[in-house]
Order: sequence, then structure tokens, then C-alpha cells
Amino acid sequence: QLSFFYTCLASTPNFILLFADDLGFGDLGCYGHPSSLTPNLDRLAAGGLRFTEFYCTSPVCSPSRASLLTGRYQTRSGIYPGVLYPGSRGGLPLNETTIAEVLKPLGYATAAMGKWHLGVGANGKFLLTKQGFDQYLGIPYSHDMNLTCFPPDVKCFGLCDVGTVTAPLMHNEVIKQQPVDFINLERAYRDFTTSFIAASAKKKQPFFLYYPSHHMTTLEKTGVINNTLVFFTSDNGPELMRMSRGGNSGPLKRGKGHHV
Ligand SMILES: *[C@@H]1O[C@H](CO)[C@@H](O)[C@H](O)[C@H]1NC(C)=O
Ligand SMILES: *[C@@H]1O[C@H](CO)[C@@H](O)[C@H](O)[C@H]1NC(C)=O
Ligand SMILES: *[C@@H]1O[C@H](CO)[C@@H](O)[C@H](O)[C@H]1NC(C)=O
Repeated sequence: QLSFFYTCLASTPNFILLFADDLGFGDLGCYGHPSSLTPNLDRLAAGGLRFTEFYCTSPVCSPSRASLLTGRYQTRSGIYPGVLYPGSRGGLPLNETTIAEVLKPLGYATAAMGKWHLGVGANGKFLLTKQGFDQYLGIPYSHDMNLTCFPPDVKCFGLCDVGTVTAPLMHNEVIKQQPVDFINLERAYRDFTTSFIAASAKKKQPFFLYYPSHHMTTLEKTGVINNTLVFFTSDNGPELMRMSRGGNSGPLKRGKGHHV
């Protein structure tokens, strides 16, 4: 594994960072789940390095994502201790340096799709395009958050009036769909990934793809080549309060929302 790792770093490797939401230690076949079918992830694990001890910095979403993307504890960026909501005015401070902002000056194409959850802000000032990502397709917070509108007064297809706003699908800084067509969302993400990777490969440009999935079903075929380092992890543990529907922590005791 180490030689593979170094071979990668000798040139400009592509990076794919797959980030699952509320996935438990015991949810995948490769971590011992007896009936959960995750063949693509299991294959990835079998051909790579599988960690059995790995800590995220927070048991909830926004702080965990803030530190993953910046390499800094969430207490430093202020995305702490709770999560952001659709009506939150704040977001990951723009002076924080994300992985995308490190790679972009080195010539990388950068894209993200899925759940951002690090702020929208007035006029989209905290969206990904302001944090080093060339392209984004996704829902800027949790897909089950139906709350108020974006601050300060952005009309979300007129739905603000009713006090409840269904989650939007955004392309870069523009609302593409609202409410989101969840049935076809995986396909939209897959198409977005495929065209991003194909375009980068054609231009011979290294790329960084950040894919924080809202929910894990199957990992789509990404056309992974030998010069790509794929890293898969989860933002926090399973949502144990939802019992079996919230995921499985395997032999571990706690899950999402637990600090110890
Ligand atoms: C960003 O700006 C804030 C406010 O000025 C400051 O407290 C913080 O340390 C800055 N962060 C970085 C990473 O420079
Ligand atoms: C969000 O709001 C829509 C429209 O009011 C409703 O159909 C849906 O069930 C809500 N979803 C959640 C998770 O509350
Ligand atoms: C990737 O590397 C393996 C092992 O060296 C080799 O068998 C395979 O053909 C390579 N695949 C591509 C697409 O280059």
C-alpha cells in the first residue's frame, strides 16, 4: 500500500473524497455487516487500506465537515458545536483554507457534489464556489431540512411565504430544482461526476472531487484510474435514536451526537 501511495504522489494524483452521512462503523459489508449490500465499497476496501480506528472531530455534521475540509479543529473556524440550518446567516469563514483552495493553484480542476452544510449566507456568500470549488451540484444542507428561507430575503420560487421551504438542488450558486427530485438525484450526481472526470481527463488536468453523499446506496462507477487516490469516510456515527433505520455502529457503543 505504501508503495502505491508513493507512486501516486510522484506525479499529480487525482483525489476523490467520498464522505458518507451518518454512516455507522457496522453499516458496511467490509466492516462485518451480515446483510447490508455494499459491493462497490467492499471492493474498494479489499483493494486498499482499510482503517479500523479513525476519528472524526465531531459527532455532528457541520463541524466534522469544517475540519475535514480545512484540516483545522472546528473550534478555530467557529463551525461549532452544532450544525447550520437553512436560515443560518453564518458559514465557514472565507479566510479558512479548504483542500480545494490548496489544490486549485496547483492546476487542479475542483468539484463537489452532494451535501455542503457549511453555510449558504446572504447572496450565497458561503457557497462552495467561494471556497475553491470550480463546480458544485447538490443540496447545500441536510436534505430533510424544511425550514425558513435563505437570508436575508431571497425568494425561493415563492415558497418563502408559507414558512416552509423545501430543500433546493443547487448548481454552483443557482437553484436548479425545488423541491429536489430525490428519485433522480443519484443519476444527476452520477452524470455530473462522469462529465467532470471525463472533461478533466481529456484536458489531462488533475482533479479533486469531493463527494459528500446525503445517503449511501451504491457507489457509482467513477472510471477510477491508477493515478487516483480514493478516500472514503463518514462525517459521524449512525443516528442511533432512529434505531435500525439510523444505521449500525457494529461493536461500538455510541453514534451521532455522542461526544464520548
Ligand atoms: C479569519 O478571520 C477571523 C476574524 O478576523 C480571525 O479571527 C481568524 O483567525 C481568521 N482565520 C484565519 C484562518 O486566518
Ligand atoms: C418538507 O416539506 C414538504 C412540503 O411541505 C413535505 O412534503 C415533506 O414531507 C417535508 N419533509 C420533511 C422531512 O419534513
Ligand atoms: C493499473 O495498474 C495495474 C497494476 O499495475 C495494472 O494491472 C492496470 O492495467 C492499470 N490500469 C490502468 C487503467 O492503467
